[in-house]
Amino acid sequence: MKYTIKKCGDLAKVRSIHKMAFAEDSWPGDDHEFWVAYDEHGGVAGFASAVLMTTQVAFFSRCAITLKHRGFELHRQLITTRLKWAKAEGAVIVITYVTKFSYASMVNLLRAEFRFASRSLVPCGNDEWHVMLKILRESAGMLKGHITQHINAMMEAP
Ligand SMILES: CC(C)(COP(=O)(O)OP(=O)(O)OC[C@H]1O[C@@H](n2cnc3c(N)ncnc32)[C@H](O)[C@@H]1OP(=O)(O)O)[C@@H](O)C(=O)NCCC(=O)NCCS
Repeated sequence: MKYTIKKCGDLAKVRSIHKMAFAEDSWPGDDHEFWVAYDEHGGVAGFASAVLMTTQVAFFSRCAITLKHRGFELHRQLITTRLKWAKAEGAVIVITYVTKFSYASMVNLLRAEFRFASRSLVPCGNDEWHVMLKILRESAGMLKGHITQHINAMMEAP
């Protein structure tokens, strides 16, 4: 199956996709960027979102693939698409999270050279998260002292 990934500025449309995928979760925010993956018939196969937390720190906030389209590397493509965007925006570091048993996500993030930001799971609401990050530029070392602050902000994000 051939897929097309397009940036989507239609918040009403992405809100309805988000509701289908993450009924329990709150909306990430109107300030986030959204990408929608379409199958060759124009059907929605998945979506992903990201936001710049500062000029240098990007946060990959959500990603979901519909059941029918899982296992076709779409998640990997949506990671690559957002990494390109983050680099073009000038981000030097990307942070994200994975829920405890989301092994498919973890595998794909590790393949994209994300690393675990902490040795242990981080409690968040009723869940526990692995916090993961990827350094995009050498200068990210300068952010070391502030990274905990950005991770905390990510945890507080809706
Ligand atoms: C997690 C999710 C985004 C993956 O999407 P996807 O497009 O099917 O992922 P991909 O096809 O790119 O890759 C899946 C990979 O993970 C592997 N995988 C799947 N389940 C796995 C498991 N339980 N343990 C280890 N690896 C697993 C697959 O084998 C595949 O690797 P392969 O290509 O080498 O076989 C999708 O399952 C989903 O939408 N889940 C619900 C929402 C969610 O959990 N989102 C998490 C981000 S917030």
